[in-house]
Amino acid sequence: MSAPADNGVGTGVRAPKRARIAERTLRTDRWWLQPLLTVLGLSAFIIYATVRSFVRTAYWVPDYHYLTPFYSPCLSTSCVEGSSHFGHWFGDLPGFIPLGFVVLPFLLGFRLTCYYYRKAYYRSVWFSPPACAVAEPHAKYTGETRLPLIIQNVHRYFFYVALIVSLVNTYDAITAFHGKTGGFGFGLGNVILLANVILLWAYTLSCHSCRHVTGGRLKHFSKHPVRYWIWTQVTKLNTRHMTLAWTTLGTLVLTDFYVMLVASGAIADLRFVN
Ligand code: FES
Repeated sequence: MSAPADNGVGTGVRAPKRARIAERTLRTDRWWLQPLLTVLGLSAFIIYATVRSFVRTAYWVPDYHYLTPFYSPCLSTSCVEGSSHFGHWFGDLPGFIPLGFVVLPFLLGFRLTCYYYRKAYYRSVWFSPPACAVAEPHAKYTGETRLPLIIQNVHRYFFYVALIVSLVNTYDAITAFHGKTGGFGFGLGNVILLANVILLWAYTLSCHSCRHVTGGRLKHFSKHPVRYWIWTQVTKLNTRHMTLAWTTLGTLVLTDFYVMLVASGAIADLRFVN
């Protein structure tokens, strides 16, 4: 594979003082595999989430109060009866607006600006660069210093919204302990909803912005033992941020898929209590 045309100017591997190497890379391993898997995984999630967000069917199980996270909170009068845990803030919505439209842009923004996802899609979608020791095709590199990528700096604000969304999902998971005839009930759907929300909290709290919120701008940790302890716990979680980023994509799909199967009548929920 040849390197991009070298006109003697540029940045990165084409900077004036870099060695002139004709090959784009000298690597002989399958360096392209990870970017390929990343783009396939992200594309699969985006396609699934988009389709499910627009179909408006099988997102609520009235017997057990299971609500898929893709439709939460459901704040429109277009939402099926019982699924609006926080009331109706809006009237009927036209079909081209997803019922979860209030939080979907923030969740998308939170993930898109996430430090891990940036690394993933910069490599796999923009090839900037696609892998270590593989030249990128772009002649110039401006990083996140200009529009549009400078917008990535709003990630910390998306983090605050993500905290609220996690609270909403927690409320949904708790109210889902509902029996068919009322009162307390517990089934496999509860296990899935609960596992999903716990992992969503782990992903959100492992955010780099959370690390900064808890322990940033401190000159002396010894004078702030509580914040230091919280920062230490967040830092431990932060080392697993990539794993949590992928795991929560999987649990979101699994949760939605399970709710869809039960809500549509394709399967019956496995009940342990009532
Ligand atoms: Fe990934 Fe904040 S860095 S969610």
